[in-house]
Amino acid sequence: MFEKLLSPIEIGGIKLPNRIFMAPLTRNRAGDQDEATDMNAAYYAQRTTAGLIVTESMQISNRAQGYAYTPGIYTDIQEAGWKKVVDAVHAAGGHISGQIYHAGRISHSALHGGLPPQAPSALIAENTKCFIRGENGNLSFVPVETPEAVSLDDIKVILEDFRKAAQRAVRAGFDLLEVHAANGYLLHQFLATNTNIRTDQYGGSLENRARLILEVFDIFTSVIGEGKTGIRISPNFNINGMADQEWEAMTFYLIEQLNRRNPAYLHIAEPSWVGGEPFTDGFRAKIRNAFKGRIILAGSYTPELGEHVLQAGYADAIAYGRSFIANPDLVARIRQNGPYNELDKKTIYRRGMEHGYLDYPVLTEAQKKPV
Ligand SMILES: Cc1cc2nc3c(=O)[nH]c(=O)nc-3n(C[C@H](O)[C@H](O)[C@H](O)COP(=O)(O)O)c2cc1C
Repeated sequence: MFEKLLSPIEIGGIKLPNRIFMAPLTRNRAGDQDEATDMNAAYYAQRTTAGLIVTESMQISNRAQGYAYTPGIYTDIQEAGWKKVVDAVHAAGGHISGQIYHAGRISHSALHGGLPPQAPSALIAENTKCFIRGENGNLSFVPVETPEAVSLDDIKVILEDFRKAAQRAVRAGFDLLEVHAANGYLLHQFLATNTNIRTDQYGGSLENRARLILEVFDIFTSVIGEGKTGIRISPNFNINGMADQEWEAMTFYLIEQLNRRNPAYLHIAEPSWVGGEPFTDGFRAKIRNAFKGRIILAGSYTPELGEHVLQAGYADAIAYGRSFIANPDLVARIRQNGPYNELDKKTIYRRGMEHGYLDYPVLTEAQKKPV
């Protein structure tokens, strides 16, 4: 029934058993030093039947952090934490791509010792909140602050931080790396017209606004090797204060540039899951025709819609987010057409809590259907 979703695929030189991927999902369950823990390793290990796991965002520095208790990739302890995750995934036969990011202006000075968030331009994200450490170390949801516009020297530091983060991720053993240029965080803020009003070589034209993203992409490739870097973008994403007047032109400019660079994959987060206008098949086909490599689509996908999009050839794999939170054995469930566990919204973001993280049940013997 879901033949194409369940068929193998090669991405970034790796043979993967199916096209049901786990989307990146921030869960705010890192340790006190923002390191991935044994609990996080167990969570990912439970989900290794996904063709490919993409990790939650890992910040490249303390200044790049946008939410409390998210795992970084800039200290020895954090590198060791991620190595535990990667080893657990590999031991269970899975594959894992590490998503690396800088939160930019979706942040608060309390997360970085009083220093303001950084962004291309000093423009606040209206009506947007982030998590800081509240009382007793619990999460507290507060409005983001006005960022500081980064100088050219700051950009050099950020590029160096991306390089060091990629080096640590490679040492931790990730199969692939993913540049997170989606969802209104720093790299997306550079892309968009309403968040980037710079007048230097990083602002203005499409070429200038895309410069930083492509520099990060090239750095990752130089670190992990040709064909092993993926990138995530979110065209027409309109929360976290984003309102890009040129998102479509930018999408195709980026695709043209990426075609020259042999990416492992282009991962597109469609906007419908946050109330944006759903992509049409016509738009998906346009992306397919423009991009030469592997395409992963994500965002409110049911198994039926995923199968349709794969059968039509618009994408090579589908990344599932919330359904992977609630169903560690999502692949087995899709294979037998359900049933599915419901997502418990209350436990999505909870520091240190195993409940809602490790205890979603797999199919019981009684639920398993004969093959
Ligand atoms: C709890 C939660 C955390 C998320 N964290 C990330 C993240 O760290 N990086 C990212 O690129 N997208 C993140 N997303 C977006 C998802 O990857 C995905 O695009 C979105 O959930 C839509 O897919 P779905 O409808 O299958 O859940 C997150 C979404 C949710 C619900």
